[in-house]
Amino acid sequence: MDVTARLRELVGSDGLLADASLIEPLLADYRGLYRGRALAVVQPDSTAAVSRLLAWCNEQRIGVVPQGGNTGYCGGATPDASGTQLLVSLRRLNRLRSVDAANFSLVAEAGCTLASVQAAAATVDRLFPLSLGSEGSCQIGGNLATNAGGTAVLRYGMMRELTLGIEAVLADGSVVSSLSPLRKDNTGYNLSQLLVGSEGTLGIITAACLKLFPASRHIATAWVAVPSPAAAVTLLEHLRSASADRLSTLELLPGIAVELVLQHVEAARDPGLAPSPWYLLVELSSSGTGGGLDATLQAALASAVESGLATDAAIAHNESQRENFWRLRESVPEAQRRAGHSLKHDISVPVASLPEFIVQGSALAAQLAPEGYLVAYGHLGDGNLHFNINQRAGSDSATFRGREAPLRRAVHDLVAGLGGSFSAEHGIGQLKVAELERYAQPAELAAMRQIKQALDPHGILNPGKLLRST
Ligand code: FAD
Ligand code: MLT
Ligand code: ZN
Repeated sequence: MDVTARLRELVGSDGLLADASLIEPLLADYRGLYRGRALAVVQPDSTAAVSRLLAWCNEQRIGVVPQGGNTGYCGGATPDASGTQLLVSLRRLNRLRSVDAANFSLVAEAGCTLASVQAAAATVDRLFPLSLGSEGSCQIGGNLATNAGGTAVLRYGMMRELTLGIEAVLADGSVVSSLSPLRKDNTGYNLSQLLVGSEGTLGIITAACLKLFPASRHIATAWVAVPSPAAAVTLLEHLRSASADRLSTLELLPGIAVELVLQHVEAARDPGLAPSPWYLLVELSSSGTGGGLDATLQAALASAVESGLATDAAIAHNESQRENFWRLRESVPEAQRRAGHSLKHDISVPVASLPEFIVQGSALAAQLAPEGYLVAYGHLGDGNLHFNINQRAGSDSATFRGREAPLRRAVHDLVAGLGGSFSAEHGIGQLKVAELERYAQPAELAAMRQIKQALDPHGILNPGKLLRST
């Protein structure tokens, strides 16, 4: 069979990527952990084309790897090394189908970038609140497939909570579609929610109806020095009640993360606070017309300094100061990448247990990876920490990398003991399949396998991701 000719029939000539220099970057993941090969790379531009494609792949038993913006951290969008899997890029399925201000919703195709969806909402005075450092290139389909989190989860929830319904193509090519803006619809199993977080293993998402909110008219942003994670957790409670729950972001950064950003990111500026072991990025936002948020934040932070929960604080007085505070936070992953190799953990624990996790986790890191230094930062309001250890300059690279497995085990066991998760927001992909097998409840894992078997009996959808291929 001439596979190329058949694929051209299914997705059209423009839908088959032929240029090797364009294909090459799609075969490796963002972190450079995996590199695969592909039978071919296709870029369908309609749901009907995805449907034809999957029906044929199912018949031929060809493995299919969906890919969005390829910014995922767990190798979920990278094919294996066999060269037999088809890479399906959703980038041409990128139309905004409708924006419905009255129903506070919009329908976007899977290949729309997150930034383009935020912008579309803004044109009708609405907010789409999902916010990630990768928003310029990650896609709505990828955000749904990974159930992405980010910096506004505290107020608005993860991608799951922002989803009203999904259109997707199942393994046999059938299309399930639930794109109405209904807020209430109790009609049996919710397939859309099953597809959120399924990482391309149950269907290819082609479009989604997403929730919008009133646009923020007032925003108050502060950079705050805090003496400890315990103080930061207490400050979370204080800020929520003092602001009548208008807190939308509370991000924790250690002093070392700020140093790395100032060292590696040219545009970043030191906010000039007293040196501190920990800092917070705090943002209040409101859609109301009354204003006064700066004053609310000022008063809340003044009382925090008085009671010792904070040692210093600066409120952004203009957009450029606000942008700088955000740059300091959003640039941490990039600064860390430039600083060298790191061992990453994306963990969550109940917020109140975060200080204990940091104390015990830091001790484990010092003991089990002495060639590294800890850069633990993240979404404090969600109990989600990126517990990353960077290699110290001059230390032996192979020795450092060899620390990964024992450290991972110790950190994830600690997290499990505290009732937390070893994958808070980045998913499983191919990186954490064994971790899921270790930490999921046996009945839960068995149910996941049964769901996979029921919806994808020939195992063509993203084989080996999330669940091991059988
Ligand atoms: P990809 O990487 O292309 O794919 C991810 C997974 O989804 C794969 O399993 C793939 O097969 C599947 N998939 C993609 N599209 C579809 C589809 N249409 N249908 C079915 N399956 C599909 N993540 C967070 O949660 N919070 C953060 O704060 C955050 N910050 C980041 C900052 C930076 C600088 C970077 C590089 C990444 C960050 N991420 C973050 C991780 C990443 O951006 C998210 O996981 C994002 O949701 C992935 O989207 P993507 O389109 O790039 O998906
Ligand atoms: C973040 O919050 O910055 C990301 O989820 C973590 C990362 O990019 O490493
Ligand atoms: Zn994050």
